[in-house]
Amino acid sequence: MRVLETIAWVDDEKAITFIDQTGLPTQYRLVRCRSVDRLITAIRRLEVRGAPALGVAGAFGVLLASTKIREKEHARFMRVLREEAARIKTARPTAINLSWGVEMVMRAVEDAHSITEARSKARTSACMIAEADARACHDLGRFGAALLRDGGTVLTHCNAGALACSEWGTALGIVRSAVESGKEISVFACETRPLLQGARLTAWELQRDGIPVTVIPDSAAAFLMQRGEVDLVIVGADRVTRDAVFNKIGTYMHAVCARHHNIPFYVAAPLSTFDPGNAADMVVIEERGRQEVASCGKTAMVPEGVGVRNYAFDRTPHELVTAFITETGVIQPPVDWNEIENMRTLQGR
Ligand code: MRU
Repeated sequence: MRVLETIAWVDDEKAITFIDQTGLPTQYRLVRCRSVDRLITAIRRLEVRGAPALGVAGAFGVLLASTKIREKEHARFMRVLREEAARIKTARPTAINLSWGVEMVMRAVEDAHSITEARSKARTSACMIAEADARACHDLGRFGAALLRDGGTVLTHCNAGALACSEWGTALGIVRSAVESGKEISVFACETRPLLQGARLTAWELQRDGIPVTVIPDSAAAFLMQRGEVDLVIVGADRVTRDAVFNKIGTYMHAVCARHHNIPFYVAAPLSTFDPGNAADMVVIEERGRQEVASCGKTAMVPEGVGVRNYAFDRTPHELVTAFITETGVIQPPVDWNEIENMRTLQGR
């Protein structure tokens, strides 16, 4: 498998680098991001996207802010840093990893007694978050790989791959781990209207690794299930609350269809994506601009004056989930939240 550095910290330049995912599959461009404003724009434009990668972006964002603040007095420095952290956290609302990554680094920094110490703690904590994310993906990949049969076909939605994490991926991490263990696996990538993360990103990264992938319109998934061409569905998650899974719009539709056809529906997510503190009703589902649905490039696809709804995520109840695949193992619903909280505490989260 070829390593993809989706997002990284460049210490000697005090900058974040990331792959601008809006250019793929035709343009591979690495961005050097030197300001919090630029990072927030990148998050909103989906240059950096996918829940775990957003967690890392949030963590590196606080680190970046800590290197740029000019205040010389510690209390003032901290005030500005908290303001910058609050701005980064709200760049996108649904994936919990973004606010989680910001809060993890802020928690480390709040203990510092000087600006120098705060910067050093921010660096250590942010880099640890990126490394832990990569480790979690490899671990959950191994747990998930055991569920795939040799010669099996996985249907996935959106992009839950290396581009959505610091490396390897969650749903695609499972596929990679299975392939690495010698199994032949092929993937149906739902194109994922309207921004086509499946067609553009999942197909790009699997092809790059030589893993067979076929892109289908989102609306073809049910028919392929009916034809018996799908062994199982694996998706990622932006947030797992006690009662629902939030993931890319279209996920719920696949879960309903999978249940109807008796096909296992798995959610692959690190514990950083679990949100024990909120019920589904409290989660804000991002609504994006009209143009993403109503136009294709410069061509209008919807008559002017006709309304468009563009929810970026939907909500799947736990009863449609066969199991959650995490870095600590495979968890079947009903989820034992005390256990999740204990494991998060052990991880220092
Ligand atoms: O809007 P996006 O592209 O950030 O949405 C991403 C998803 O919905 C992914 O499935 C999710 O973040 C899991 S990524 C491992």
